[in-house]
Amino acid sequence: MAQLICENLSLGYDGREIVSDLSFQIDEGDYLCIVGENGSGKSTLMKTILGLHEPVRGRIIMDGGTKQTDIGYLPQQTLLQRDFPASVWEIVLSGCQNSSGLNPFYSREQKARARKNIEKMGLNELSKRCYRELSGGQQQRVLLARALCAAGKILLLDEPVSGLDPKVTEEMYRIISDLNKEDGMTIIMISHDVSAAVKYADKILHIGKRIFFGKTADYLGDEISRGFTAPRGSEGA
Ligand SMILES: Nc1ncnc2c1ncn2[C@@H]1O[C@H](COP(=O)(O)OP(=O)(O)O)[C@@H](O)[C@H]1O
Ligand SMILES: [Mg+2]
Repeated sequence: MAQLICENLSLGYDGREIVSDLSFQIDEGDYLCIVGENGSGKSTLMKTILGLHEPVRGRIIMDGGTKQTDIGYLPQQTLLQRDFPASVWEIVLSGCQNSSGLNPFYSREQKARARKNIEKMGLNELSKRCYRELSGGQQQRVLLARALCAAGKILLLDEPVSGLDPKVTEEMYRIISDLNKEDGMTIIMISHDVSAAVKYADKILHIGKRIFFGKTADYLGDEISRGFTAPRGSEGA
């Protein structure tokens, strides 16, 4: 069933168009990877889906009872954010803000949700620790737990493994895959690692001079995927 439909979207800033005439549909339980060169507008597209940025043209339709507040978001990390002076518990709990409206206090239900996601991400032992003292991989799990507090149905992840070592990267991909397969969470992930994108995602959106949207297998058979990055396993072939 369709969950999110983007219709003839054009995106840009201050009259400068970055992405033109983008149309695609995301169904419940999809795992979509968004790939494309740096600066092609991937993060802008995510912000537009979240309602943080207005499209120049076109529209986004939420279907199947999905609301913008059902979307969890893990933003692209900056060095400054890695130094954030708050505890793991405070950061995860702040993910519940979406559902509290103007009420400045967290309800019992919201605190229970934060606890559940801390446990789910294996962070029980770290919940009182300060975020900035954690390793890169631990920090990403904290941000994922935070995003899960908001995510009823859809999780948007902007380069969730950038800066992580290969072992932690694999672990992160496994967690994301489990959320998709076991919990039925719809995943929309921006990735600069095309080999991982084609390994895990069932659909690919490639934005840039040409746009591709479709099944991963069709992407691999399309011109557009060639010359971008060789899929894993094809090195030296
Ligand atoms: N707030 C902003 N104001 C003006 N230009 C922006 C802003 N954010 C991003 N851009 C520009 O829009 C283009 C796309 O950026 P972005 O969506 O971050 O690309 P990507 O995530 O694919 O690397 C880039 O040229 C970038 O410099
Ligand atoms: Mg980006």
